[in-house]
Amino acid sequence: MKSLIAGNWKMNGLAAAKSEIESLIAKFDGSAPDDRDVLICPPATLVASFAAEYSDEAIQFGGQDCHANTSGAHTGDLSAEMFADAGAAFVIVGHSERRADHGETDADVKAKAAAVLAAGLTPIICVGETEGERKAGKALEIVGNQLAGSIPDTSDTYVVAYEPVWAIGTGLTPTIEDIAEVHDFIRSKTRDDIRLLYGGSVKPANAQEILAVTNVNGALVGGASLKADDFHPIVMAAPSGS
Ligand code: PGA
Repeated sequence: MKSLIAGNWKMNGLAAAKSEIESLIAKFDGSAPDDRDVLICPPATLVASFAAEYSDEAIQFGGQDCHANTSGAHTGDLSAEMFADAGAAFVIVGHSERRADHGETDADVKAKAAAVLAAGLTPIICVGETEGERKAGKALEIVGNQLAGSIPDTSDTYVVAYEPVWAIGTGLTPTIEDIAEVHDFIRSKTRDDIRLLYGGSVKPANAQEILAVTNVNGALVGGASLKADDFHPIVMAAPSGS
């Protein structure tokens, strides 16, 4: 399976941040290696211009969230169809920051993921337990419930990202054994061809060890995706696949 290394820029990046894309392309010697997939999800304002300018260099672009409807009276929202129109290939749905800041439920996430598939794009469906849930020994139960509630009934391809909430932006990561346990569990609930990403404080120093774990098929990278100097070694740490 080909690894997917996805950068989630969150609410970071103005037009000038294209210099980081150009720097990444330069580090790739002009084009991303074809034995792994490289995705950047910049703020929605940048998706169309980045996709138009850089898609030839084998970097893909995606959205960070979308509305479940195709169009309509939803001021400020963006549909999956709009991301497709802008040249996106993926849309992240159900990130824990969306679940926490905007009260998104599993049912909301499922509807968004279905909308992404209907638009012909691939959803990256995020799940993960809080620190309290892990301490209470409930990580697998929580992740299992989120998976059951958030993944649409489909034969299309989607991606699952396991991101423990307490590991996001904190510099903390689960042990390799804990990552392996959750990823094996998610695999037992999903098809064999579905890529499972780990996310939460992935950085150059820990990427190789995490990406070598069975059933970790890539990474969803926040802070360390903003600078090409950090993101490039993470991309290259992924095992080669086809
Ligand atoms: P982080 O964020 O890499 O900064 O921890 C990951 C994410 O939220 O996708």
